[in-house]
Amino acid sequence: RHSSPSNLYLGEALAALEGTETANVAASGMGAITQVLLQFCKGGDHIVSSRTIYGGTYAFLKNFTPKLHIETTFVDITKLDIVEAAITKNTKVLYCESVSNPLLEVANIKALADLAKKHNLQLVVDNTFSPLLISPVKLGAHVVIHSLTKFINGSSDTLGGVVCGTQEFINNLRNVNDGASMLLGSTMDSLRAASILKNLRTLHIRMTQHSKNAQFLAEKFEADGLKTVYPGLVSHPSHEIFKSMMNADYGFGGLLTIDVGSLDKANELMELMQLKKIGYLAVSLGFYKTLFSAPGSSTSSEIPKKEQIEMGLSEGLIRFSIGLDNDIERTYHMMKNCMIEIGVLKK
Ligand SMILES: Cc1ncc(COP(=O)(O)O)c(C=O)c1O
Repeated sequence: RHSSPSNLYLGEALAALEGTETANVAASGMGAITQVLLQFCKGGDHIVSSRTIYGGTYAFLKNFTPKLHIETTFVDITKLDIVEAAITKNTKVLYCESVSNPLLEVANIKALADLAKKHNLQLVVDNTFSPLLISPVKLGAHVVIHSLTKFINGSSDTLGGVVCGTQEFINNLRNVNDGASMLLGSTMDSLRAASILKNLRTLHIRMTQHSKNAQFLAEKFEADGLKTVYPGLVSHPSHEIFKSMMNADYGFGGLLTIDVGSLDKANELMELMQLKKIGYLAVSLGFYKTLFSAPGSSTSSEIPKKEQIEMGLSEGLIRFSIGLDNDIERTYHMMKNCMIEIGVLKK
């Protein structure tokens, strides 16, 4: 569990990607997230977290860490005054996703880093949705996490995670006496590390194409009158913040959402698109094929209905992870025909 050559090579490549001193690879994204939070926090400590995060992370903070007397306050991460008001004398960690799952809210990492500095907190950012697009550590974050399961591996055939940070923090995670990676055992299997490293080599080309296709579709869907959320649209509330943080060339990412009004319509549309081979009804993301899911009843089902409504996660929301299609205009027309067939769009 301590280290192996393949795990170290992959860790060093991911540290280079995120601009950190080093990195620790894990068996899954959740394996990375849980080790970081349990390393930073002990009983009596407090976390301030974005409320729009991956359902598993939400469940861990809401249901699991309270058993260890670690409490979390969930906030709207885009409202800095609310974030600051939630900080207490026991707060140790400020937690968010650069681009949130599934609502695609964008965290102002620079401003959050200033808050973290002011209150002596660790800013931990899950960058799973935006590898290469956003570099949280350059903007002031202390630790960056990825689920490698998604874009970084890119072929939906493995689980993996990574923690990118300082040598000191990574050493702490691997400490044989009290390291959360070492003792909880969420270590990556070395054979997996070799295959993920191979896939990492094409990440820049894939991210550029995912973004190009998603931007094209988002603009078309919005023009068709669908309620569309994509950070690359001028209508996105954090479009300017994303622009101010992004690295040039990779675009605004492969994830977009549309709202088709009801869960029944969402399911009908997704099943039809799957039948027409446009993509797969699946909860993952970052695959070469387009993937779609209704997060309210899948990846965010851990979040109680009432809270889903409060945060704007409506039943008819479909999250798309747009694929690497070579002819995205053709894909658009196929999607539009499906929408017309089920009555979401008029001819
Ligand atoms: C943003 C985000 N972080 C973390 C995870 C968890 O990753 P894994 O499935 O590799 O444990 C997911 C999974 O869906 C995710 O979307």
